[in-house]
Amino acid sequence: MNRDMNFKNQAKQPVISSICCIGAGYVGGPTMAVMAKKCPHIKVTVVDTNSKRIDEWNSDDFDKLPVYEPGLKEIVCETRGRNLFFSTDIDSAICNAEMIFISVNTPTKDYGLGRGMAADLKYIELCARRIAQVSNGDKIIVEKSTLPVRTAESLKTILESEDARHTFKILSNPEFLAEGTAVNDLLEPDRVLIGGEQDEQGQAAVNALVGIYLNWIPSEKIITTRIWSSELSKLTANAFLAQRISSVNAISALCEKTGADVDEVAKAIGMDSRIGHKFLKSSVGFGGSCFQKDILNLVYLCRHFNLPEVADYWESVIKINDYQRKRFAKQIIEDLFNTVSGKKIAFLGWAFKKDTNDTRESAAIYVAYELLQDRAEIHVYDPKVSAQQIIGDMKNMLQQNGNQSFDEISQLIHVYNDPCEALDKAHAIAVLTEWDEFKTLDWEKIYRSMYKPAFIFDGRNILDATMLRKTGFVIKAVGKQGI
Ligand code: NAD
Ligand code: UGA
Repeated sequence: MNRDMNFKNQAKQPVISSICCIGAGYVGGPTMAVMAKKCPHIKVTVVDTNSKRIDEWNSDDFDKLPVYEPGLKEIVCETRGRNLFFSTDIDSAICNAEMIFISVNTPTKDYGLGRGMAADLKYIELCARRIAQVSNGDKIIVEKSTLPVRTAESLKTILESEDARHTFKILSNPEFLAEGTAVNDLLEPDRVLIGGEQDEQGQAAVNALVGIYLNWIPSEKIITTRIWSSELSKLTANAFLAQRISSVNAISALCEKTGADVDEVAKAIGMDSRIGHKFLKSSVGFGGSCFQKDILNLVYLCRHFNLPEVADYWESVIKINDYQRKRFAKQIIEDLFNTVSGKKIAFLGWAFKKDTNDTRESAAIYVAYELLQDRAEIHVYDPKVSAQQIIGDMKNMLQQNGNQSFDEISQLIHVYNDPCEALDKAHAIAVLTEWDEFKTLDWEKIYRSMYKPAFIFDGRNILDATMLRKTGFVIKAVGKQGI
């Protein structure tokens, strides 16, 4: 079917009946599932080059979807096959859609110019070229991926150079969902941001996307801006969120030296309505696929525009995060009498936060790496992360650092399906993810099964330290006296 919107005839507001989303990942999957649920009159097709991922989205067993998010499987169950489709047939999906969301990964470049800092836009560029090559009519292209400011300009250049016959209107519609709460964040976002070109057709495209969101989002929560403001707002939002965590983590180090308690400090400052209480939970360090990469990208942009002071300011957020992860690992080694060689260190949690199976940039990987340098044995339990994922993460980390033989090191990593087995005969326990189930483990039984002194290093401040001390544990927690 040829979905030609013909902008010239529909300058006010093109009507959207078919959407394609390129990229069936943590953003593309949940975002489109919610859009399909709330817009039963729109056909939504999510496409990806990764056929395994598409097969998993199409799995009969809804527990095997590639992304775990509370509430997601129910929505996919309701919409899949009705107006939500997952496919590897990218060209047909592009042709059949009036609006195309690009939701592919934008990792930090690991080669060439801008290596280790700039966003790698090769997947975005491939999408643009594909869209231009196979399009059979005018299209609205929506940047859903997080992108450097002015990427829309490059997209437009590529689209128009490859295909001069059709009009492409580009929108920036960054996604603010957080993993673990994605469904709720999508159903009831704080705001939806749409940036568009200021000309008449650009505004018509903006209105078409606003029209879709109005199916479930109140109009006062939908903000429309210039396209560059929208692109920069996304990077800025992540930088501000990460900055709060690094700020409280920096203070946690001072708390440990002075006897102040970081949770008490966070509560006291958070009650100031100008500061607010969210994102002040001290931890072993933030993880996730985006905070680090987006700040690096921001830093790169600042350096590119010759703003070195601004770049250094934001880079310090990352430096404190590195420091926090290393500090945590060092504390374990020092407390275990300056060596963990041959000792069993049990990790509770591997995901970068609770309620997700995502492990990208998880603090657990960095802490494990530091401990492996000291030849610890790492025994991991995570309720949602597979052994294959954990071993793969460590392999990548070791390869990136290029100084270890993985086969040798892999003997030192063990993964369990049962927390008690992971903790049995451990020298120390490190809490890396704040899964609720860790709070209610049978801690007396665990204490009896461990070597003494039985150490717990709570990297998330979730355990009842008073109760555990009474049981006999030596417990150290981030930002608390005694660490
Ligand atoms: P992801 O890696 O989970 O998914 C991206 C998908 O895109 C992959 O399945 C990959 O196979 C596919 N892909 C890549 N190139 C393709 C191509 N040319 N054609 C078809 N498919 C292609 O990534 P994600 O976590 O969903 O993130 C996507 C974007 O959204 C990133 O820019 C990220 O910064 C941003 N973002 C992520 C989150 C989050 O919580 N993960 C939140 C907000 C924004
Ligand atoms: C974050 C943002 O919250 C989203 O708005 C954004 O859309 C997303 O990045 C993105 O662009 O990818 P996410 O990384 O999924 O979402 O999860 P967060 O809840 O922000 O947590 C990030 C990390 O910070 C986790 O490791 C978490 O444990 C840690 N964190 C969070 C803390 O250590 N303390 C806190 O107070 C909050």
